[in-house]
Amino acid sequence: MKVALCGLGEIGHVHLDAIRDCAAAELVAVSDLDEHLAERAVAEDRAPVYDDIDQMLSEQEIDLLDICLPHNLHLPVALDAIGAGCHVLLEKPMAIDPASCDRITAAARSKGVRVAVSHNQAFFRPHVRLHEMIEAGELGEVHSLYARLWIGGKYRGWREDPDQSGGGLLIDAGVHRIYTMLMLGGPVSTVSAVMDSPRFEDSFVVTLGFASGGTGVIQGAYHGPEGVFDDRIEVFGSKGVGQVTGCEAFFEGDLRDVPQLRYRLDGEWRDDPATDTWDASVARSVDSLITAIAAGDDPPVGPAEGRAAVELIQAAYRSAETGAVVTLTGERS
Ligand SMILES: NC(=O)c1ccc[n+]([C@@H]2O[C@H](COP(=O)([O-])OP(=O)(O)OC[C@H]3O[C@@H](n4cnc5c(N)ncnc54)[C@H](O)[C@@H]3O)[C@@H](O)[C@H]2O)c1
Repeated sequence: MKVALCGLGEIGHVHLDAIRDCAAAELVAVSDLDEHLAERAVAEDRAPVYDDIDQMLSEQEIDLLDICLPHNLHLPVALDAIGAGCHVLLEKPMAIDPASCDRITAAARSKGVRVAVSHNQAFFRPHVRLHEMIEAGELGEVHSLYARLWIGGKYRGWREDPDQSGGGLLIDAGVHRIYTMLMLGGPVSTVSAVMDSPRFEDSFVVTLGFASGGTGVIQGAYHGPEGVFDDRIEVFGSKGVGQVTGCEAFFEGDLRDVPQLRYRLDGEWRDDPATDTWDASVARSVDSLITAIAAGDDPPVGPAEGRAAVELIQAAYRSAETGAVVTLTGERS
């Protein structure tokens, strides 16, 4: 796969390393508005650098474009790349709203190319292990799930502009909790939410009614001292309990040296040896997605998973704005 990368900011650098390490990928070009940043990043790769993505798409032979840009650019850049006959790999969230996800999916289908979404925490080993335990019935009937995201110190830059971000904390770092809840709890049928300022939120509580009959709560907030990054997932089943202490917590914050996955089975608490790091989960996500597409397969996380997360986020915004419980239909626009 001849792979080009656009956006060499925080996550773009992690993708760059992952592409270099991916046996199925060859880095052929990069693009960033800040050409000097891009030149420094790929000095050793000798990949051509562009400050204009369209020019890169027209001048280079590219099989797949990896898009690591602010949220409002996911839709237009994905459509341009697909129009040029490229597969696309999108950082989370797939796009700002479900209708934009549908436009990307329809365009890809008509061009016969694939869409992958980097939901990296779906590749985080403790989450994978917890999912396996649920699927195998080890925790019994899972009736209750909980996810927490406490970040001390607010993310700045384009994330503070709702026109670029599409919302506040929920659509940004919150999306990892959303797709992880969907992965562990299955499809969601109802959503209700409370937020301090919907679509510009610094704190939120989202409650989920799973199609299985179970319930879930996702809580997130920026209000805390610098250095705190506490992301947890808890699963409460009829036979056991599972707890994951963070993915990002281990590099963003000071919550280290605690077991990543603990569970209670048969009356006994155990620490699972499935440890991992955030950057390894990003690398595994990028590698798995590119490798699947290179093999002619659907990627393990594609437009259906990307759209489901975005649909849930927008339902939470609607609920926070109206006070109503929102029923998810999954209907395509
Ligand atoms: N998976 C994760 O844990 C994770 C972490 C951080 C960010 N992200 C996601 O990655 C994406 C990017 O976030 P980030 O934190 O890396 O942002 P960032 O601001 O650090 O980087 C964005 C880069 O895009 C460049 N850019 C902006 N407009 C451009 C254009 N028109 N053409 C070319 N380059 C352009 C900017 O110059 C910048 O270098 C977002 O979707 C975000 O949600 C995911």
